[in-house]
Amino acid sequence: MTREHRSLNKTILITGGAGFIGSNFVQRIFKEHPTWKIIVLDALTYAGNPENIPAEIRESGRFDFWYGSVTQPMLVDKIVPQADYIVHFAAETHVARSIFDNTKFFETDVIGTQVMMNAALENKKLDRFIHISTSEVYGSAEREPMDEEHPLNPTSPYAGAKCGADRLVYSYMQTYPNMPVMILRPFNNYGPRQHLEKLIARFVTGMLKDQPVRVYGDGDNSRDWLYVEDTCEAVEKALLADIGRVKGEIINLGTGRSISVMEIANIIADILEKPKSLIMQTPARPGEVKQHISSTEKAAKVLEWTATTKFEDGIVKTINWYKNNADWWKKLEWMKEVPITLEDGSVVMY
Ligand SMILES: NC(=O)c1ccc[n+]([C@@H]2O[C@H](COP(=O)([O-])OP(=O)(O)OC[C@H]3O[C@@H](n4cnc5c(N)ncnc54)[C@H](O)[C@@H]3O)[C@@H](O)[C@H]2O)c1
Repeated sequence: MTREHRSLNKTILITGGAGFIGSNFVQRIFKEHPTWKIIVLDALTYAGNPENIPAEIRESGRFDFWYGSVTQPMLVDKIVPQADYIVHFAAETHVARSIFDNTKFFETDVIGTQVMMNAALENKKLDRFIHISTSEVYGSAEREPMDEEHPLNPTSPYAGAKCGADRLVYSYMQTYPNMPVMILRPFNNYGPRQHLEKLIARFVTGMLKDQPVRVYGDGDNSRDWLYVEDTCEAVEKALLADIGRVKGEIINLGTGRSISVMEIANIIADILEKPKSLIMQTPARPGEVKQHISSTEKAAKVLEWTATTKFEDGIVKTINWYKNNADWWKKLEWMKEVPITLEDGSVVMY
């Protein structure tokens, strides 16, 4: 990134900036771009946490927080015109919750994206709109590694809603070819400030408390695990890349390596020196993706980005963060489980 780029006064709007990836991204942008103004629009759902944005940022004089929903055009239409850049993270994100009750997923993920895109269309100074999609839109891998041309076969309502949003953004890219829009599809993220409902945060905090942790099914589902700081670096590169290179593009963000859920549980137990007897198996969660691994070629070529954090290093950083921030996660413990009725009538907590 060039000096000239850094010296410009820009305003960036980050939706969902109080959530896991969004807050890591806010922190990166705050540090890397001292002349930029940051606006966060966040509805502070159970997944959003104002503590994810440190006082240093909140009180910096170059940070605005708008409490509200991306589904509200009256609010969005006020904020979007201020932005030179938009990174749209806001979404309902938990697969199990989307099976339990999915209305909010379609409202936020699809309608919220439509509201954001319509407002963006009217903003003639907009330099970039990055839509944060997800690898979940692909469903299980039909071929490996999964490139951006892989069929879209979402397997859960969450993935279905995100797929709807992804295709909606795609349709705007076709209808309005001058719109400076692109789509990123990150694979499974992990790292500091991830909600306890998500797998790695759940395993780490469960084992820190010497409590059993549950692996769904036989645990051989495997994923491409991406450390959140690597994701944020890629999003920043997409923001700063020459617009001609990225406009209308869809790019996967992954590592090209997959690790099974059971392996993850074992790695965390080993690092924390906990007995493997803490790892328990429960019925497989419906809608689960079996196998996921990203092609890394397009991100390397277009964004000149490859993930640099090895899983073995990222997981140690993550564990250390949860060890040192028990005050943060202990407040979330009360609501981490979702009851799902399986087809045989049994109810399982996820
Ligand atoms: N975490 C992952 O592994 C992963 C992987 C790929 C893609 N993604 C995508 O990245 C984005 C961020 O994911 P995350 O894990 O940080 O999610 P998260 O659940 O931790 O945070 C979501 C944030 O969005 C906010 N939000 C929810 N509904 C809103 C609304 N209607 N209006 C405004 N704000 C709202 C929440 O308050 C929260 O701050 C999502 O779009 C998700 O689909 C996540």
